[in-house]
Amino acid sequence: MEPLILPAGIALHGSTGGITVLMVEVPAELLELTRGAARISVLTGAGMSAESGVPTFRDAQDGLWAQYDPMTLATPEAFADQPDLVWAWYAWRRHLMTTIEPHAGHRALTRWGEHAAVEVITQNVDDLHERAGHHVLAHLHGSLFSLRCFDCDLPYDMPVEVPTQQVERLEPPLCPACLGHIRPDIVWFGEPLPVPAFERAEQSVTEADLVLVIGTSGAVFPAAGLPLLARANGVPTVEINPVPTELSHETTLNWRITAGAGLPALVSALG
Ligand code: APR
Repeated sequence: MEPLILPAGIALHGSTGGITVLMVEVPAELLELTRGAARISVLTGAGMSAESGVPTFRDAQDGLWAQYDPMTLATPEAFADQPDLVWAWYAWRRHLMTTIEPHAGHRALTRWGEHAAVEVITQNVDDLHERAGHHVLAHLHGSLFSLRCFDCDLPYDMPVEVPTQQVERLEPPLCPACLGHIRPDIVWFGEPLPVPAFERAEQSVTEADLVLVIGTSGAVFPAAGLPLLARANGVPTVEINPVPTELSHETTLNWRITAGAGLPALVSALG
């Protein structure tokens, strides 16, 4: 049952075992920054999805995939060399998403978006923001659920097999135009970011009243440069992350809290 977050950020969990009060105190300076904000850019990373159970890219992989290093699978060279192996890995990750739900933090952003312009820019390739009802302005690293031809780039929107068991090899579909292999439309290591998506993200963070940086280590550029661009344009930036990151010394304010606890408390406190 989703906790009822009261304005002071006090959450009451109705349960058979009585009432548990979860105290989440929203920092006053954060409330000050958010209360006047009409346009908020939200940059999310793997930590936003991790709380729903999506393993971060650097988490140890399990089962059959434990023997593989994601950094070597997520490359055009790996796909060119073994398309059935790389396709099977992404097909498994698409399956995992069917067992995972958005959390209270995703839903809080959607609620906030009903009263302000909340533009989500994500490094994540899952669809949790969308499944929480929030349009994503930019998938900077692409999406598990978008496909294209490896050879001619033609988008591919036919339904594809999603295995319910881990299989190590799965032949990718072939492009109807050139018979090339269909690949995930995800930015692999060594590939450039999608220019239109990144330009939308740059415009969003420079024109925002506030930028939230949630669940990212700030280790991967050019995405990690967006909060720096915001600050260079005088836009306040707030990091929401339980631990310090490479961006922490650049942001206006750091809130050491998880997305799933902090965002519902913040949105409730905004009324
Ligand atoms: N709430 C908020 N932040 C969290 C939570 C949570 N519940 N759980 C973890 N975090 C934080 C971690 O402290 C860490 O700083 O999320 C961050 C995750 O960092 P990374 O795993 O490096 O993920 P990310 O920053 O998105 O990586 C950037 O690199 O792995 C590649 O292409 C991949 O898009 C990814 C990019």
